[in-house]
Parts: sequence; structure tokens; C-alpha cells
Amino acid sequence: MHGGLTLSILGVFGMLAIAVLMLPFTRRIGIPYTVFLAAIGIALGLALQMAHGTGLGVLGDFLEGASSFGLTSEVIFFGFLPALVFESALAIDIRRLLADIWPILLLAVVGLLISSFLVGGSVWLVASMPFVVCLLLGAILSATDPVAVVAIFKDLGAPKRLAVLVEGESLFNDATAIVLFNILAAMILTGTGVSLMGGVQSFFTVFLGGIMVGLVMAWLFVQVIARLRTDAVVEVTLTISLAYLSFLVAEHYLHVSGVMATVVSALVIGSTGRTAMSPDGWHLLKETWETIGFWANSLIFVLVGLAVPVIMANLSADYWLLVTVALVSAFAARAALTYGMVPAMAWLHIGMPVSTGFLSVMWWGGLRGAVSLALALSVYENPAFTEETRQFIITLVCGFVLFTLFVNAPTVGLVMKAFRLDRLSPSDLAIRDRAISSALGGIASGLPRLAEQQKIESEAAQRVVRSYRSKLPTEDEFESEVQDLSEENWLQIGLLSLIGQERQGYLENYAAGHISPQIARILLGAADDIRDQTKLGGVSGWRTACSSVIGFGWQFRSGLWLQRKLGIGWPLGRRLAVRYEKLRTMRSVVAEIRDSGLSDLANVIEPKMVEKLGAMQARRERDIADALAAIREQYPDYSRALDEAYLERCAIRQERESYDKLQGDAIIGSELHLSLQSGLAARYKTLTAQPRLDLGLTPMQLIGKVPLFANLPEDRRAAIAKLLHPELAVPGQTIVSKGDPGASMFFVSSGAVRVDIDPEPVRIGTGAFFGEMALVNEAPRNADVVALAFCDLLTLHKRDFDRLMEANEDIRAEIERVARERGQPDVID
Ligand code: CMP
Repeated sequence: MHGGLTLSILGVFGMLAIAVLMLPFTRRIGIPYTVFLAAIGIALGLALQMAHGTGLGVLGDFLEGASSFGLTSEVIFFGFLPALVFESALAIDIRRLLADIWPILLLAVVGLLISSFLVGGSVWLVASMPFVVCLLLGAILSATDPVAVVAIFKDLGAPKRLAVLVEGESLFNDATAIVLFNILAAMILTGTGVSLMGGVQSFFTVFLGGIMVGLVMAWLFVQVIARLRTDAVVEVTLTISLAYLSFLVAEHYLHVSGVMATVVSALVIGSTGRTAMSPDGWHLLKETWETIGFWANSLIFVLVGLAVPVIMANLSADYWLLVTVALVSAFAARAALTYGMVPAMAWLHIGMPVSTGFLSVMWWGGLRGAVSLALALSVYENPAFTEETRQFIITLVCGFVLFTLFVNAPTVGLVMKAFRLDRLSPSDLAIRDRAISSALGGIASGLPRLAEQQKIESEAAQRVVRSYRSKLPTEDEFESEVQDLSEENWLQIGLLSLIGQERQGYLENYAAGHISPQIARILLGAADDIRDQTKLGGVSGWRTACSSVIGFGWQFRSGLWLQRKLGIGWPLGRRLAVRYEKLRTMRSVVAEIRDSGLSDLANVIEPKMVEKLGAMQARRERDIADALAAIREQYPDYSRALDEAYLERCAIRQERESYDKLQGDAIIGSELHLSLQSGLAARYKTLTAQPRLDLGLTPMQLIGKVPLFANLPEDRRAAIAKLLHPELAVPGQTIVSKGDPGASMFFVSSGAVRVDIDPEPVRIGTGAFFGEMALVNEAPRNADVVALAFCDLLTLHKRDFDRLMEANEDIRAEIERVARERGQPDVID
């Protein structure tokens, strides 16, 4: 006789084998894989019901084993969800997520609440169930699963921002749905009401609690990994434990959101964790998690299918009405979110504009999956709910999930076609054809050399070459296709091709170990932004994107803010280091492409256009170089230290490769190899830790550079220094805006600013001051003042200004004199 475990193993691995064997098949016939799996599951379930006790030998055992594994809410929650959630969150770039966090949270939290009430309310109108139970159903049915949408967006090359929005929304709305579900379930079971405040409070506790658990667990992980520096297998295995343990600790022990804990831990690993990991570990991590995600997805859909015949065995008569109402209201609610909220957010400038085509894919592709089922099952399994509630929830959710699976999933493609999202634009077509032909052409011209090397008969070689050449489109074919392309189109094609090469350049730098994963990710994100915007806005989109990727982002700004308001300098120092490395790599890659990439393009587009592209690219390189020079000028020692560390890292990488080669050729033994390598690892580690940047922002240091104070006796200087607050301004930053009320004045300890007055702007350099007029005259600011370089400023707030003026007659006279002169610019001369 077989034991229960033997049967379960037979069931699970049998199902897994069946599932993956279906993959090539579904690809060929073009049905979504998961849909097909669910169908197989249903077929197996039906077979099981029929085969009961008919002694089918191993087949019967398999069917029994598959069902003995049983899809319970616990299996989904603790077995599948951590893996599914961790895998999708790992793939999300946290910077992009944070950049759009408000629209994402709005959709996931407010949107989910709206949707739950709409669905719950509509069903309540036709069902004879209490309102809370209907609301519970609404919450369960509002957790969307975007697998289909994400896959389509990837295929279509949809803007990265949109993909992040959809993925982010689904991860957070799962968590929101679960929290809401728990609150409502508790209300139903205890029969007590929950006040609105109480609900909101417990919602935040659970949500934020989950985030905290995720942060703490991931932080522990990063600490351990950074200290261990072990092999890739250990690191990757630990991430699997992390995914499950953070979920379990949060959900089971601390009763906060497990999904949030796992999402956050995956996000941390995906961003800072990579810096702590070895490069090999990172590759293995990605592959392993892709596999785990694939297994989990494959199994869960078969299991879902398997459970269907049992659940749907006895349906009441009014079931079809209810499920229709649920479907219509849920899709109406989803429409309100996609067609209403997303454009509204774009209008309010907190989100991006999204085309109707993409909105429709988001709307129709909002499938319901594992989370909805798990929640429904947990009601179904809980005898504390009334029999009626249990049946109501499970059958409706099951019917709903099946509908989205068998109706929506296979037809999202049609929506895509209806909006012509699958059609390439003329410029895309031209790029594709040109790219393919230049690839084929390259191969055809390389073949004779290969044949020569291999001493292959020239006739045979000629035949192969000829067959390649015949595949190339003729010039006529090209001409007819590209006639209607404007100059703007051509430039766009060229820019897109260049940015593709730039992206490749960053990947190569990363693969060669020249840049850290963190910098690589930032640069790849920048390249993606430029590509997205060039696709959307052509040349002007490209220009805007190029200047925004070398601008100062929100992280840098928050660093500045921390330094200015709280006097905490290290985050700003770190941002500067990151910026420096980013700009240096960007410049070298852009310069390289200007040389090689443009000559490649010359085969594809007209020489006149290539020339224009060259000029645009040169301009871009100059902008990057200027930004880089600004940092070098301000922090010469520090940038030198960074340059040195970079060079050494490259050297160590080469050293490592040569040791590997020596060992591979059996010139050194494995023991010596190991000791050489571990020495290198230690050196590499000290180099990856960025040197601390001393911003040099102390009042006493800076005050000496301002002539007004420089010659004062020590004690007076010290007294004045107490009133001054040092701060850093970055190139392009508007320090003072015309018309604002004046709250402080500034002394320039180093750097330069531009005062935008008519008719000509004025430049103010090291040692001078500005912003005094508003204080002296008690009037609004009379001009914009913009930093031209990195500037060390000493800020004097209004209150301290009054004190300073009172206590120092000579300084007062000087400041007032300057303010007076600047107030009547015509009189000076
Ligand atoms: P405030 O009006 O507080 O803010 C704008 C500042 O620009 C102003 O103070 C002066 O410090 C500076 N400013 C205005 N006009 C001139 C000028 N003609 N030359 C130099 N600086 C000026």
C-alpha cells in the first residue's frame, strides 16, 4: 500500500511534468499557457470523479495523489503566494516604482476600495445576502493578477513606466485586498461592527507592519550576505528562505501583511541586495527565481482546474444571475479605474499619459488569480461561516476566476489587435527591416572568411552565401517602404538604434565587472527612459529625456533636503558618488557609440542624417562632460579617489580572469587558485565600498572664503559662524525665485550663481552674497537666482540676519550699501 506522502509526490510531480510538457504545445497553437493548464486540471478533476475506485493502477494513484495534495487556502497562501509575489517583485526596479509610487498606491488602495464597494453593492442589490458578505466578495474579486497584461506589454515594448504601474498596482492591491478581507471577515464572524476609524487604523497597522517586517528581514539578509561573501548557491538559497520566512513571520506570528513583507524584501534584494551579492550570485538568483515562479504558476493553474469540478458540483438556480452581476460590476469598476483614474492622474501630473489602447489592455486584462481563490477558499474551509456564505463566496469567485481565465485571457490579444497595438508603425517597420538586413548582410560577408579558415570548398561556401544574399530585401523593396518617412522619422530611427547600442554598452560594462549592479541598473533605467520618450516624442522627446537623465532626481533632492534641513550630509555624499560613477560610464559609452555606432548606421540611413545624429550625439556628450566636470571641479580629491577605485576594480577583474585561465590550463592547482581568488575578493570588497565624501560643509571652514567676514577677529567670526547654516546647491538649481517672500540671504563660499535680471543676467561668484534685498527692503525677491555650478553657500535666516545686523555695524553698512546699489542698477557704472 502507498502512504499519503508517496501519493502526494506522485501527484505533484506528475502534474508538474504534464504542465511543462504542454508548454511547447501551447506555444504552437497560441493559447495562453495558463489557460490550457487550467483546462487540463479540469479534465483531470473530472477524470478523478469518474475514476473513483475503479482500480486504474498507477494512473488512478496519480489522480488520487493529485487531489490528495488538495488546494487549500493554506497551500496557496503559504506554499505558492510567497514564491509568486517574491518573483514578480524581484523583477521590479525599485527606483521606477518609487518614482510612480503615488499613482500606484492610489490605484491599489483607493481604487481597490472603490471597486470593492461597487461590486459588493451591486451584488447586494440582487442577492439575498448581508451587505458585509457582499462586500467581502467585492474585496476578493478586486485583487487583480496582471500576468497576461505584463506579458503583452513586454511583447509590445510598451513603455517601462506603464509595465511598472501595472505590476506595482497588482502587488499592492493583493495586499490591500487581503487586509480588507481580514477586517470584513472578522466583522462577519464576531458579528460586531468596525468603526471607520478603527478600520482605517487596522488597515495601516497591517500594511505598514508588513513593510517593516520586510525591511528588517531583508536588512538582516543583506548584512549576513555582505559578511559571508560565500558562493552563489548559498546566497540564492537564502533568498528563497527569505521569501518564505518574511511571509510567515509577518502573516502568522505578527499578524501583519505577509504579502507586503515579501514584496518589500524582494524589492530590497532587487536593489541594494545586489550590491551585497557576488555577480555570479545575481545571475543565479535571477534564473532560479524565474524557474521557481514558472513552477509555481504551472502547478497552481492545474490545481485550480482540479478543484473546479468539486466546487461547482451543485449550483443553485440564481447562480448565473449573481455571477453575471458580479462580472458586469467588476468590469465596470475596473473601467472606472483604468479609463477614469489613470487619465485623471496624468491630468494632475502625478502619473503618465496612457493611450486608450494600453488602457483597454489594462482593463480587459485584469484577470483574477491565486489571491482571489485563496481568499475564497479560506472562507469555504472555515466552518465558522454559515453554509450559505461559504457556498456563495466560493462558487461566485470560482465562476469569476474561470471567466477571466477562459474568456479574458485568450481574448486580450484581440483587444490589442482592435487598437492596432500589434501593428508596427512605418518607422518601426523600417527599423526592423533595416536591422535584419544589416545582420544578414554581415553574416553573408563573413561566411567566405569562415569557409577559408575551415578549408571548406569554395563552391559549397558560395552556395550558402548565395542563399543568404537571396534572403536580403532588394533596394526597391526598401524604397517603396520608406518613401513616406519624414526627416523626423529618420532621426527617430537613428536615435532609437543608438540608444539600443548604448543600452548594450552598459550591459557589457556590467558583465565585465567595471560598474556595480546598482550603477548598471540606474544606467539601464536611463536608457529605457530615453528610448520610451524618443518613441513617444521623437527628437524633442529624446532631448528632454537626455537632459532629465543627467538632471538631479528625487533621491538627490532628498539628499539635499536632509543636508539643508537636518544637517545630515552622508546621503548627499553617497548620491554624489553615484552620480559621478553614472556620468563617467555614460560619457564613455556615449563617446564609444559616436565612433562605432554611427558608422554602423551609415549602412542604413542617409549620410546627411548620420551627420545630424553625430552632431546631436556630440552635443549630448558635451552636456554629460560638463556635468562631470562640475563635480570634478568641486571635489577634485574625491573624484580622483573614485577614478582610482574604478581602475583598480577593472584590474582586479582582469586578474581574476587570468587566474581562472591558469587554473583551467592546469598551470596552477585549485588550492593556490582558491587562495589567490579569496585575496582578490577581499580587495574587491574594499574597493566597492565607496570612499566617504566629506562635503566640507562646516561654517568655520566656509566663512573664511567670504571677504566680508574673512578679516574679522577670531571671536567675532566664531560668533557669526554660529548664525550661518552651510548648504550645497547643485548646478541649475533655482535658489531664490522672483516674487517669493524673502526668508534668508546667502553668502557664496565657493561656486557661482546667475541673477536673472533685465536686460542681462549678472553672475555672482565666490565671496559675494545675494538675497539681501528682500531682507533689507522687506520686499519680495526681485530676481531668480540660479546656481551655475556646485556652490557651497552659507545661509542666514531672517531672524539671525536681524541679530547680525544689530551686532555688527560695519557689516550692516556694507550689506545695505550693496542692496541699495543693486536696487538702482542704472546708477552704478
Ligand atoms: P533678493 O531680491 O532678495 O533676491 C534676488 C537677489 O538677486 C537680490 O536679492 C539680490 O541679491 C540679487 N540681485 C538683484 N539685482 C541685482 C543686480 N543688479 N546685481 C546683482 N545682484 C542683484
